[in-house]
Amino acid sequence: MIRTLKVAASLAVLAFATAGHAQADRPWMNAKLSPDERAALLDKAMTLDERIGLVHGPMSMPIFGIKKPEGAIGSAGYIPGIPRLGVPAVNESDASLGVTNPLGVRPGDGATALPSGLSLAATFNTKLAYDGGAVVGREARAKGFNVQLAGGVNLARDPRNGRNFEYLGEDPWLAGNLAGASIKGIQDQGIVSTIKHFSLNGQETSRHFANSVIDEAAHRESDLLAFQIAIEKGQPGSVMCAYNLVNGDYSCGNDHLLNGVLKRDWGYKGWVMSDWGAVHATDYILKGLDQQSGEQLDAKIWFGEPLKASVEKGEVPAARLSDASRRILRSMFATGLFDKPVTPGGTIDYDAGAEVARAAAAEGIVLLKNREGLLPLARTVRTIAVIGGHADAGVLSGGGSSQVVPPGGAKRVVPLGGEGMMGPFRSEYFNGSSPLAAIRKLAPDAKVAFDDGRYVSAAVAAAKAADVVVVFGNQWMGEGEDAADLSLPNGQDALIAAVAAANPNTVVVLQTGGPVAMPWLDQAGAVVEAWYSGAKGGEAIADVLFGTVDASGRLPMTFPASIDQYPRAQLPGRGVPEKTRFDVVYSEGADVGYRRFAMSGQKPLFPFGYGLSYTRFAYSNLKVAGGDTLTVSFDVANTGRRAGKDAPQVYLTGAPGKPLQRLIGFERVELAPGEMRHVSVTADPRLLGAFDVKANRWSLTGGDYQVGVGASSADLALKGSAKVKARTLKP
Ligand code: BGC
Repeated sequence: MIRTLKVAASLAVLAFATAGHAQADRPWMNAKLSPDERAALLDKAMTLDERIGLVHGPMSMPIFGIKKPEGAIGSAGYIPGIPRLGVPAVNESDASLGVTNPLGVRPGDGATALPSGLSLAATFNTKLAYDGGAVVGREARAKGFNVQLAGGVNLARDPRNGRNFEYLGEDPWLAGNLAGASIKGIQDQGIVSTIKHFSLNGQETSRHFANSVIDEAAHRESDLLAFQIAIEKGQPGSVMCAYNLVNGDYSCGNDHLLNGVLKRDWGYKGWVMSDWGAVHATDYILKGLDQQSGEQLDAKIWFGEPLKASVEKGEVPAARLSDASRRILRSMFATGLFDKPVTPGGTIDYDAGAEVARAAAAEGIVLLKNREGLLPLARTVRTIAVIGGHADAGVLSGGGSSQVVPPGGAKRVVPLGGEGMMGPFRSEYFNGSSPLAAIRKLAPDAKVAFDDGRYVSAAVAAAKAADVVVVFGNQWMGEGEDAADLSLPNGQDALIAAVAAANPNTVVVLQTGGPVAMPWLDQAGAVVEAWYSGAKGGEAIADVLFGTVDASGRLPMTFPASIDQYPRAQLPGRGVPEKTRFDVVYSEGADVGYRRFAMSGQKPLFPFGYGLSYTRFAYSNLKVAGGDTLTVSFDVANTGRRAGKDAPQVYLTGAPGKPLQRLIGFERVELAPGEMRHVSVTADPRLLGAFDVKANRWSLTGGDYQVGVGASSADLALKGSAKVKARTLKP
């Protein structure tokens, strides 16, 4: 479907007037100058009020009695432009999983719903991450948005975190690479992308009062490393700081994180914008924050009149305000917002977007269990019972600011109710395509019956009457809250157990925001984790069930046997009186997820990197070369009878003096039966070292480094080692 959006007349007129100015009055419009030079020239031409205008802005959605600001397109946020100087207005939309339309502020305007971040991470495929970003960038441009609030890269430190579905799993190398690729995909369309939420926004429970406590070296080697890698690869125009505190200071007023790590150590040249309602004082500008976003949610518009007064009194140096404004302008120049301004009214090929979503969803579905080849289902199966999960309507999506509504609207919305700031966002949206319809399409001669799963007895009767059962297990997760435990809510575990007991040919399809406990696992015939699968999720699920495509997703986070295997079995902040600060002590340090399981020897339900295929892969011919870093090469062959996709993984399993486990490389390969591919990965040396806080450098002790290559973090078929030189690297 090609759809033309309405042109917002006022913005088009502004763009026309801007283009009319001779370059002589506006030397910053000389595209031969560097973004830094252009930003400096423009900042110099600005008045104090104009600079102040650039460093704060309102929400642009109708909520809590707030009206959409005049001139804004309507979504998450807005910074008015400066027509006198040709500075375009900034229109920001959320875009973790597609361009959003919060609370329907743009009536009837949908967008391509991409699969969840965990689904993308399960593909281990950076190209798909880039392609998804490009879909977001194209749709944003056509709708008139020039800044996208995307790039969520917080590591999944707790399987209950309500926003794990927006992020990219538990490993810094995997998450950093995928986030970098998706940011690049967005920005290659001439649209600024953020990366967020900097840093350690590791849980949603009381997120405004949670103080994330972590050892500095561990932070650098884990969450900060994910940000660092993604920033290097994606060059995002902006970094969004988080709601929580980190080691005692709010993230958005955290001098060490913003001025020290981000701007000094990493040399970041873009701007730091706040999360919506995360600014608590004017002096955050001195701590490194450049822009106050969603300002109505804060107690004061700190970066408005109070900041102006502070600059006038000399409490905030005028040079610091100029630096903030130059950083914003620099990213706008670097991404092309001045040279190729964004205006609404473009055409959007939603079919093309949906195909990208389908490819990512299909590659991200993880086959966790498959008893005696129950999957793929034979096309000749005579009767199928499809049970539960609203599979007759669409596929589940996650809630909160990342919620995408597709063109034509959601297929079904189930309001969950609830109070507080996130109350209006608490609904289960079933989007995209119906798995039931897609199953019927792939098995046209079968009798496919649907039971909604509300009554266990009816579901059991349907299961008994069918050759094969496909039962759905849904876990809605949403911003602002964490899962209470790892069960499937609303009695679905009991439903699945009863259905699986009634029919051994039961295939469980999970649509979850993260790991769940699966107490019925032994009884189930097969289990697939489909996550939140986006615009064409129904087709992607059916394609995997019937083997139209290989089952090729690999878990981007550990599925524990029980929450007791994690360091914080009791979710911090639960039971703490409202508006009271509390500590979330990340005692696991950099050993997030599988790394901690490797150290403790505990056995998870399913390990990081795990996923079955419909074919078989074999690894051989390992070569490990040392020197400045490790270069690991090996062959991967498809030894089965059908085409398939693998994601062989390379782990560091020991560095001089200590055993450890770290993903240092991966590759996505597609192989015909009998085909073999040679894979070579060169490790980023930071992954081999430790962060030396005193020296403020990465340090590699040098000596023998051990590696393992295999199908998951717990299945290393090949082992080798090589000598790496002692060295240190910039922070
Ligand atoms: C979220 C951000 C989002 C912002 C704007 C906040 O609640 O934490 O991820 O970009 O809202 O919608």
